[in-house]
Amino acid sequence: MELTDNSLIHSQLNGELSKLHLDERLQALLSYIDCDTLADIGCDHGKISLGAILSRKAKFVVAADISKSCLEKAITLANNFNLRDKIKFFVSNGFQSITRKVDQAVIAGMGGIEITKIMSHENCPSRLILAPHSKCDILREHISCNNYRIVCDNIVKSQKKFYPVIVLEKSSHKPCYCSSELMYGKNLPQSPYFIEMLLEQKGKLEKILLENKNENIAKNLAMVMELLKF
Ligand SMILES: C[S@@+](CC[C@H](N)C(=O)[O-])C[C@H]1O[C@@H](n2cnc3c(N)ncnc32)[C@H](O)[C@@H]1O
Repeated sequence: MELTDNSLIHSQLNGELSKLHLDERLQALLSYIDCDTLADIGCDHGKISLGAILSRKAKFVVAADISKSCLEKAITLANNFNLRDKIKFFVSNGFQSITRKVDQAVIAGMGGIEITKIMSHENCPSRLILAPHSKCDILREHISCNNYRIVCDNIVKSQKKFYPVIVLEKSSHKPCYCSSELMYGKNLPQSPYFIEMLLEQKGKLEKILLENKNENIAKNLAMVMELLKF
């Protein structure tokens, strides 16, 4: 077989992809990418950028991080995989220093408030793949005040931990979240991990309430119970 043979190139790419050792969270994020040019904001290790190229989910990636030392990790990884011509690197606060137009963006592994700031930039594309690690309710409130269609708002389990994944597309409608959904998400499309996450949260909150009667914790528990009813 010649090197130009598509099947050989694809199997080589798949082999390289497996060397990235992507966990379930990163695999879930990759599964939502499909574009020519992707922005990986807060790229850090660079696995999302490289994974997108190696899985052929994106043809080109703009990888950005606010921290030069974090970006250097991604550059080293791209060099190791011989992918420097497929990824352009920027030290950038969100989209601020990115000049190239992108079709989709992954903004993952940072707090919900930081994500809302990044997605408010004028260069932010119309399809977003988000993975907030805190303040998800504030992020969802921001989403509900803006024109988006929710493609996905559910939970991924990776190494015994639960992670929210939210995928949005610009639309003419504002999405609607009730207060318990603002906190925990919509379970859209349905994931078995959503119930598992709620049950774990229920146990944690009940334990806290036994030790300390706190009104906010009681309210939070009521939200979890409401979602578990469905
Ligand atoms: C925990 S890492 C997440 C890495 C990767 N995105 C993931 O989800 O596995 C968060 C990264 O976001 C970067 N970061 C935080 N705020 C940022 C901002 N406003 N703009 C660009 N990068 C940011 C941090 O420097 C850090 O490298």
